[in-house]
Amino acid sequence: MRFYDIIEKKRDGGELTESEIRWFVDEYTSGRAPDYQASALLMAIYLRGMTDAETAVLTDAMCRSGDTLDLSRFGALAVDKHSTGGVGDKTTLIVAPLAAALGLKVAKMSGRGLGHTGGTVDKLESIPGYRTALPADEFMAQVERIGVAVIGQSGNLVPADKKLYALRDVTATVSSIPLIASSIMSKKLAAGAGSIVLDVKVGSGAFMHTPQEAEKLARTMVEIGARCSRKVSALLTNMDLPLGRAVGNALEVREAVEMLRGETNSDAALREICVALAGQMAALALGIDHTEATNRARRALESGAALAKFREWISAQGGDCGFIDRPETLCPASRRETVTAPRAGWVHSVDAAGIGKAAMLLGAGRERKEDGIDFSAGVLLCVKNGERVEAGAPLCELLSSTVEDFSGAAETAAAAFVISDEPAPEQRLIYGIVQA
Ligand code: URA
Repeated sequence: MRFYDIIEKKRDGGELTESEIRWFVDEYTSGRAPDYQASALLMAIYLRGMTDAETAVLTDAMCRSGDTLDLSRFGALAVDKHSTGGVGDKTTLIVAPLAAALGLKVAKMSGRGLGHTGGTVDKLESIPGYRTALPADEFMAQVERIGVAVIGQSGNLVPADKKLYALRDVTATVSSIPLIASSIMSKKLAAGAGSIVLDVKVGSGAFMHTPQEAEKLARTMVEIGARCSRKVSALLTNMDLPLGRAVGNALEVREAVEMLRGETNSDAALREICVALAGQMAALALGIDHTEATNRARRALESGAALAKFREWISAQGGDCGFIDRPETLCPASRRETVTAPRAGWVHSVDAAGIGKAAMLLGAGRERKEDGIDFSAGVLLCVKNGERVEAGAPLCELLSSTVEDFSGAAETAAAAFVISDEPAPEQRLIYGIVQA
């Protein structure tokens, strides 16, 4: 087989065979094929697309390029979730213990943040003592015992994706549906769960800017699941505005705990998405009706069962649980500043990408993989879409322990708020569910 012929075939709009796709993934991952040929093929795929059958084979080939996790001992109860990346997305911190409280088994490997979106592992590392790396037998035993464990991704999980993603990042080939779908689903398949719920974000802070594009991505991933014998469903959710009110690692952990504690001022949108995700997981894994599953999830959140599970989980992984009773004690920032409204009116929109960028400027995220993080840093929204604000009243608070000059972050955060004379139309939170 020749790499040249495969590039030429895809360039001209042909359908690649299973053996051509597997050969390409193998050649490139093992270092036998050069970056320039892989780049040319990625661009041809970007421009010409892939059929569902090609995308499923690409996903499977990538999945098999490294370690895979065997969760068969948990049978149908093994569940996983994935979000396509958002600002203020702390859903795993709530959904993982919530699913465990419903009797499901969550053996989860999470990623770190890069750019303006955060990663669950960084959030968990803001908890003193929490171990994000566990030996495999301890990880499995914890899931067996309490139903949930969350660790960082193993170094050799889908090496093909690590190489291909790095190449896509520098060749303008990231935003291709078959390439995004195979990248995400190869990692989910390798992580072993039989039931997978995806949260596909739509909006300014997301990869997919319209519900139509997001639905296409979701359908592609659900179809990959069906072809690879996994149960997959996807929620399409709004990422025009940040999820919840906190953006930044420890701030998001605190917000998650406040929600699990049932605090009355916790964010309704965040609660709805978490209940819907856990409900979908239970529906797939237990084979029960979606409404019944969602009701069970809501009850487990309201009864405190999910909070109890959260405590068990954090403690099992070595975390100091003191903050669960007093969330404000987790990584307090040494400096804070308030951004105020330039005029009175109604908050029309809060640009998620802008708030994510402001949090980064305060030290909450990384520009490059090797950068450090200020766990205390971030943005707390005081108002959200549809709320009334008076001139000079707080729009958001900026927090940091490492940055002295808040002016860049303040300007960026202020620009994210659009205030208008009319109340904004209510935004949809969940655009729909895509199922097999
Ligand atoms: N997330 C991934 O893991 N891969 C992509 O290609 C895009 C988002």
